[in-house]
Amino acid sequence: MWTDKYAPKTLDAFSGNPGAVKETSAWLSSKPAKRGEGLILYGPTGTGKTTFVRLLCKENGLALVESNASEMRSKAGINKTFVGASSQATLFFKGKVIFFDEADAISGSSDRGGAIAIAGIIKNSRHPVILAVNDLYNPKLRAIRNMCKKINFTKVHPATITRRLKEIAANEKITVDEKIFDAISRTANGDLKAAINDFEANVLGKKDVSYSELIKSNWRDNESSIYDTIKIIFKTLSAQNAREAMYAAEVPPDEVLEWLRENVPYEYQKKDDNAKAYNYLSRSNVFRGRIVRAQYWRYQAYASDLMSVGVAVSKKERYTKFFKYQYPSKIRKMGQSKIARAQMNAFLSKIAPHLHTSKREARKYGFLFSAMQEHAPEAWRKIEEEIEA
Ligand SMILES: Nc1ncnc2c1ncn2[C@@H]1O[C@H](COP(=O)(O)OP(=O)(O)OP(=O)(O)O)[C@@H](O)[C@H]1O
Ligand SMILES: [Mg+2]
Repeated sequence: MWTDKYAPKTLDAFSGNPGAVKETSAWLSSKPAKRGEGLILYGPTGTGKTTFVRLLCKENGLALVESNASEMRSKAGINKTFVGASSQATLFFKGKVIFFDEADAISGSSDRGGAIAIAGIIKNSRHPVILAVNDLYNPKLRAIRNMCKKINFTKVHPATITRRLKEIAANEKITVDEKIFDAISRTANGDLKAAINDFEANVLGKKDVSYSELIKSNWRDNESSIYDTIKIIFKTLSAQNAREAMYAAEVPPDEVLEWLRENVPYEYQKKDDNAKAYNYLSRSNVFRGRIVRAQYWRYQAYASDLMSVGVAVSKKERYTKFFKYQYPSKIRKMGQSKIARAQMNAFLSKIAPHLHTSKREARKYGFLFSAMQEHAPEAWRKIEEEIEA
């Protein structure tokens, strides 16, 4: 994915938010742990908070102790990972930074311990503690907010996004219509990650991209949202993410299944992963069949989980290759036969009066019409003229 390939390698290459970058560096060298003060970086998604903290540590020779979302769900998880880390010194580094990324994902009212655990770590840590969040005023952060300096990451400016996309295009040796940069930068709404993803989805594998082509490909709105759904299911290793993507899907579960079925062999290159994914899909399909027969709709959630979570966890590791997913052949065929049916209907409406019969009766001779069309095209053309079909 280009967001990985083109993640900045140095702080110099980091786009936007120069003030926040400077302020954070200053904070880091002010011995905040001695004051028991943490730092909250807050701001919209895709502005580089996570990337920035990693670079900051790298360039300052600091070890980074990072959380993952599942550890953050409980007090025990947080303490297990961080309490030790925050009190030990490190052997080979000047120091370390304790980083709670996406800290607004900490457990909510059911286990209020999460935020309290973090507050305890900020208070007692020998090392600087940094949090990254989207929403500074999330009530879950109540116990923490007052102990922290707050630095705002703002949306990345469209001109800055355009500059970055142009660098990528140059490096990929793609000629891109000027208007495309504009269109993508503006719709990204300050989210550089989204802009790079959009850009990749639209220009990958091409040499020349025109604006009209872009408009055409984005015109199929429905397709792009199902595209997002299956992309998440294929790329994530988290059951929760896969499940959420499935629930957010804008097309019915049957259709998601077809998209997954069609694209599993492209995405999952390893035989084992491939086999596991198909196994889950077929089980989901069996479930679905039973649900429909028994009309037990409340069990649909299990069929959905089997396909989304099942496919997501079938891989050992994420495949980094990125390609345009294929439109399911089964849906395409159904679509075509729908058109064929509509054409037949129109034809029957016209021919029925000439045969002094009803449409319904005329339909019975549909096979004759088809045979004529195929084997006696001349005669068929005359009939068409006569009935003005
Ligand atoms: N300021 C930036 N400079 C350069 N690249 C960026 C920047 N912001 C985002 N990106 C690109 O987007 C990717 C994802 O950004 P990142 O995950 O750091 O955003 P984030 O602010 O942490 O988002 P979230 O709030 O969703 O966690 C990066 O790997 C990089 O490719
Ligand atoms: Mg992040």
